[in-house]
Amino acid sequence: MIGGYEAADEAGDRSAAVYASIARLIGAQSHEIARVEHATAGWNAAFWSVPMEAGQRILVHDHEYGANAVAFIRAAETRGVVIDLVPSDSTGQVSVEAVEERLSLGDVALVSLTHIPTNGGLVNPAIEIGSLARSAGVPYLVDGCQSIGQRDIDVQEIGCDFYSAAGRKFLRGPRGTGFLYVRDSILDRVAPAHPDHWGASLTKSAENPEILRKSNAMCSDSATFPEGWADRFEWMPGARRYENFEHSVAGWLGLGAAADCALEWGTDRIEVTVSNRAEELRSMLTEIGLEVHDQGEVRSGIVTTTSDRVPSVELRRALSASGVNTSTTSFASSPYDSLRRDLPPLLRISVQYTTTVEELTFALDVLRTFI
Ligand SMILES: Cc1ncc(COP(=O)(O)O)c(C=O)c1O
Repeated sequence: MIGGYEAADEAGDRSAAVYASIARLIGAQSHEIARVEHATAGWNAAFWSVPMEAGQRILVHDHEYGANAVAFIRAAETRGVVIDLVPSDSTGQVSVEAVEERLSLGDVALVSLTHIPTNGGLVNPAIEIGSLARSAGVPYLVDGCQSIGQRDIDVQEIGCDFYSAAGRKFLRGPRGTGFLYVRDSILDRVAPAHPDHWGASLTKSAENPEILRKSNAMCSDSATFPEGWADRFEWMPGARRYENFEHSVAGWLGLGAAADCALEWGTDRIEVTVSNRAEELRSMLTEIGLEVHDQGEVRSGIVTTTSDRVPSVELRRALSASGVNTSTTSFASSPYDSLRRDLPPLLRISVQYTTTVEELTFALDVLRTFI
C-alpha cells in the first residue's frame, strides 16, 4: 500500500528487534547475528570466509549435509585442502576420540559439524567437539539448521565460532529465512568472500590509490577512475559483514515472530517436549512393525522409519492424503551416511513442539492401514 522501501522504514524498529530475539534464543549478542536467506547461504558464507591453505585438513563427519559435502569437494579442488572424514562411534554420532586424535596432528583449517543430521535421528555432541576445537584454536562451524527450534541452544556452551540456521524447520518460521551466528572473537581471522556495500563501506586512501592507478594504466581514457575515487573498503562491525543489503523484510519479521514464539514456550521445555514425543513415536512405529533407523546417544525430533513392504514415498503419499505432512530422505541430502549404512529412502517424520500425542496416534492409524 505504501511502497516496499517505505514499509521497510516503517518496520525498522521491529526489524532491529529480530536480531535481539535470535540472540536471546541462542545466548549471543545482537551484533553477532547476520540475517541470511536460508541455512546453506549462512553456512557457505561462514565456510568460505575461513582461510584455508593447500595441504591443510578440514575435519568433517560422515553425517554432513549434502550441500556441505559439495563445498568440501569444491574447497579441495580450488584450495587444495584435504577432506578428513571423521568416522562415527558405535552409537552413530561423531567419534569425539577421533576428532581429538586428528586435531592433535595439527594443521587443521576448520572443524565442521552438522548438529542434527538429515537422517539418523541423532544429536551430535557439539559441546564436546567445541571444547576440542577451542583448545586447538581451530575455527569451528556448526550446521544448526535442524537443531534450532528443537534444542536448547547456547552458543557459549557449544563454543562454536559459527552457527548457521534456517527459519522454516523446527522454529516454524517462514521459508526463505535464516541466520548466521558469528562469534566476535573470530572476526579478525576471517573475511567474507562476497561482501557488498552493506557489509562493507567504501573508502578512499589519502593518496596513491594503488588498485585504481593500476586499473587506469590498463584502461582506455574513457574508462578510467578520476583521482580520489574509493579504492578500499572497511568491514562493517560485527556479523553484518556477512549480510547483503537486499532481503525479504516480511520474511525477517516472520522469523522474529517464530523466535519470540519459541522464547515464550521456553527452549528448555521445547527440548524436553520434542525428545519425549519423538521417543513415543519411535515406540509406536516399532509396535506396528515398522523399522526405526535412528541412532545416537542423544536422539532428536527427527524420526526415520521404513516398511519392508511399502516404499517410503508411498507411505508419505498416504499420510499426505490424510493431511499428515512428512518427507522422505534422499542420497543427495545425506550422502556419506546413506552410503555407509546402505540406506533406502526413509520416511522422515519430524515432531514439533506443538505436536500432540493425538496427532501421532492419528498418523499411526493411517500408516497401519497401508503396511
Ligand atoms: C543438516 C541440514 N543442513 C542444512 C540444510 C539446508 O537448509 P536450507 O535449505 O535452509 O539451506 C538442511 C536441509 O534439509 C539440513 O538438513
